[in-house]
Amino acid sequence: MRSTEWFKKMSFYQIWIRSFKDGNNDGIGDLYGVFEKLPYIRSLGVDGIWFSPIYPSPNADFGYDISDYKNIHPDYGDLEQFKKVLNKAHELGLKVIMDLVINHTSDEHPWFIESRKGKDNPYSDYYIWRDKPNNWDSLFEGRAWEYDELRGQYYLHLFAKKQPDLNMDNPKVREEVKSILRFWLDLGVDGFREDVINFISKKEGLPNGLPFIPAVNGMPYYKDGPHIHEYMAEFRDVCMEYDCFQLGEGPMTTVRSALKYLTGPDRSLDMMFSFDHMMADCLYTEYIHRPFDLRKLKKAFTKWQNALNGKAWNALYLENHDHPRVISRYGDGRYGIFSHSVPKYWKESGKMLAASYIFQQGTPFIYQGQEIGMTNIRLNSIDDYMDISSKTNFNRYHLNDTFERRLRRIHLSSRDSSRTPVQWNAEKHAGFSENTPWFFVNKNYRTVNVESEENDPDSILNFYRKCLELRKKSKTLILGDYREYFPRDKHIYMYSRTCGCTSYLILCSFSRLPVPFHLPKTYAGKAGKLVLSNYPKDSRKEIPGFLRPYESRIYKYRVKPIPEENQ
Ligand code: NOJ
Repeated sequence: MRSTEWFKKMSFYQIWIRSFKDGNNDGIGDLYGVFEKLPYIRSLGVDGIWFSPIYPSPNADFGYDISDYKNIHPDYGDLEQFKKVLNKAHELGLKVIMDLVINHTSDEHPWFIESRKGKDNPYSDYYIWRDKPNNWDSLFEGRAWEYDELRGQYYLHLFAKKQPDLNMDNPKVREEVKSILRFWLDLGVDGFREDVINFISKKEGLPNGLPFIPAVNGMPYYKDGPHIHEYMAEFRDVCMEYDCFQLGEGPMTTVRSALKYLTGPDRSLDMMFSFDHMMADCLYTEYIHRPFDLRKLKKAFTKWQNALNGKAWNALYLENHDHPRVISRYGDGRYGIFSHSVPKYWKESGKMLAASYIFQQGTPFIYQGQEIGMTNIRLNSIDDYMDISSKTNFNRYHLNDTFERRLRRIHLSSRDSSRTPVQWNAEKHAGFSENTPWFFVNKNYRTVNVESEENDPDSILNFYRKCLELRKKSKTLILGDYREYFPRDKHIYMYSRTCGCTSYLILCSFSRLPVPFHLPKTYAGKAGKLVLSNYPKDSRKEIPGFLRPYESRIYKYRVKPIPEENQ
């Protein structure tokens, strides 16, 4: 592997700092808390950390509205504390990547404050101003244009009103981006996760979109826009001076367009977060919510695995700060949100979900709290929710529906469910802080917490560790080819990873009832070694020919896989 491909062997842990760990007891997570918990993060077996934005921000979108790109939000510490965290992380063998949010800034960023002042201002063209808006909707807050009294024009905001879009066609803006990259790279960070990076180049003339598609009507004119690859190449040049790693977030990206970023000598990204597998139960959060469909999930997984094999590299994830908790979506929690307890097969389904994605080909990302099986919260009032998209979508969609049903949709889909404080122990405030936390702690913290799971060898936490360890030790699980079996099966996801004569077969039941299964021909009748299971050994009362509720098994075989047509 050339040095810029160090990321292939790795796995990452994502920190959404506000809810990670409060180190100075003001109720808000911070870099002091991160410093304290670095050994814990390392103990998971991950090799890197991705920090969601920790820069100064008025928090209209909790950090994704940046008002100073080269500093740390005072709630979280300062640059000195950041350097301490970075050094300690490096000492422990953890790489650190930052979030790069350059599609938009905060409206409180000095560039925007200047830009508003008028057309003669040096920052006038840093943003996208028009006398007449087009018909685009924003993704977060009504129309994508807001009138600014001072400037006497409308500005574009694809997200919230307080997130004006930067004008990337302006070379000065691209120079600013390069300067931000250099600032953090010179400090020693190892790469970037690039926010909605496929949106940064807009089509000239900003044509009207289709009027009848809410929220995303303008997308054909700002996704993978005309100059995207030129701009990305400029940023890549800077990053390559530092052997750093670039991971793009690609909302609604297709395999075809992702490959343009990820392949060839001019590739501009090392990996991309795709979204298809996040739509096995919804179109986009609060708009359309459907019952979970395993076949849809498997189809998405397999599509990306096959398309990128040998050409590019997948970024694997099931959770992040933009989605509800996965046990509550694809695991046993999908049968109801439990505010005080956990679903019956919480543990089994939490572990099975880990195995369903960590062993695919790609670099796994684990979101804070996912490793202990945190679940969704259920708040009684829409006013208790903090996330802008949950709040505005509540008032945007399904307005003829009852209040209860609208709130239920928020329970199912709000991003706030992944933003509750991490549950460290069974003590007050779940050990997150000694003071009242800035946001609700999930009431199930007495069951779901790091401390109790540390003490349980069969916990979800320890299963994540076992999965990461197994993957790390196996060339086959890192580099091997992927193959899916029985794609039409509604309850079982079965896939293999094969390299030379070594093959792993991963079985995952998504059912809360026992389900019959049989092995593919390549493996049937062969002596496979069970290397990992999500059921504890002493209760391994297998039902022959069946997988128990949410059972997952990982077998290792020494076989030469037979050609596809003979399966
Ligand atoms: C994607 C980020 O992950 C999300 O949290 C944010 O709201 C939008 N981009 C806008 O920056």
